[in-house]
Amino acid sequence: MQITPENSLAALGLEGRVAIITGAARGLGRTCVAALRARGAVVVASDCNPSVGELENDGVVTFIGDVSLEETAIATLALAMQRFGRVDILVNNAGRTLNKPLLETSADEWDAVMAVNARGSFLHAREAVRAMVSGGGGVIVNIASIASTVALKETSAYAASKGAVAQLTKVIAVEYGGLGIRANAVAPGVVETDILEGIVPDSRATLASYGAVHPLGRVGQVHEIAEVVAFLASPASSFMTGAIVAADGGYTAL
Ligand SMILES: NC(=O)c1ccc[n+]([C@@H]2O[C@H](COP(=O)([O-])OP(=O)(O)OC[C@H]3O[C@@H](n4cnc5c(N)ncnc54)[C@H](O)[C@@H]3O)[C@@H](O)[C@H]2O)c1
Repeated sequence: MQITPENSLAALGLEGRVAIITGAARGLGRTCVAALRARGAVVVASDCNPSVGELENDGVVTFIGDVSLEETAIATLALAMQRFGRVDILVNNAGRTLNKPLLETSADEWDAVMAVNARGSFLHAREAVRAMVSGGGGVIVNIASIASTVALKETSAYAASKGAVAQLTKVIAVEYGGLGIRANAVAPGVVETDILEGIVPDSRATLASYGAVHPLGRVGQVHEIAEVVAFLASPASSFMTGAIVAADGGYTAL
């Protein structure tokens, strides 16, 4: 489903807000760009995949870089400050997964997952909070997972990294709430994207096969998560901070 001003929920007070969204070349990140833009936010979108540059056609400012590098976080924030003079919202969305049993997980594979999901989120949050403290406030929305809080087989590296994302979220909320900075995370259930591409054969079918284990009987769609991100990024959620918000078709209610 395309998110447009006509079919999206209310503007939520996002008009003119400046947002950075990582991992925006495809999947959930790309839909978060649409969800925030539909409500009048201006967006700086980053990804290590150069195809993120396609968003320039829609008036989005883009940056190509690996989120796990400190220089990427610093440069992305600098770009937003240079173009718009402030940063109101960071969506830490870039992520990767690994579906392997513990005994088959190499140290390099562990490091690679932690580097993107945990270190990348930390680096971007740190640089965003730095800008938000100067600017008098802001909002961070981290993309966690059901794997942040419940155990799924063959996800030791991914689950550890998403557990880190959840705890990072809470600590930012506690440390900087007094300075007008909120931090929340969305914890999606399985969502139909290409995240398993190159990891398992027939990745979309594999993802869809998880539908039955969600009480709603299906996997989620990206716009169903992006709507929660938009709400958490907006003043409509002004008394929420440090929350890990489930958007999981009931998975963690089991
Ligand atoms: N799809 C799911 O079932 C699901 C469930 C829960 C949480 N999530 C989380 O949602 C987020 C988005 O995932 P998705 O499903 O849209 O997957 P996706 O693979 O379609 O998109 C991930 C994006 O992140 C980018 N990326 C990966 N490594 C990067 C790096 N080092 N630097 C910069 N960009 C990088 C990719 O290029 C891609 O554009 C991730 O954090 C993921 O863990 C996904």
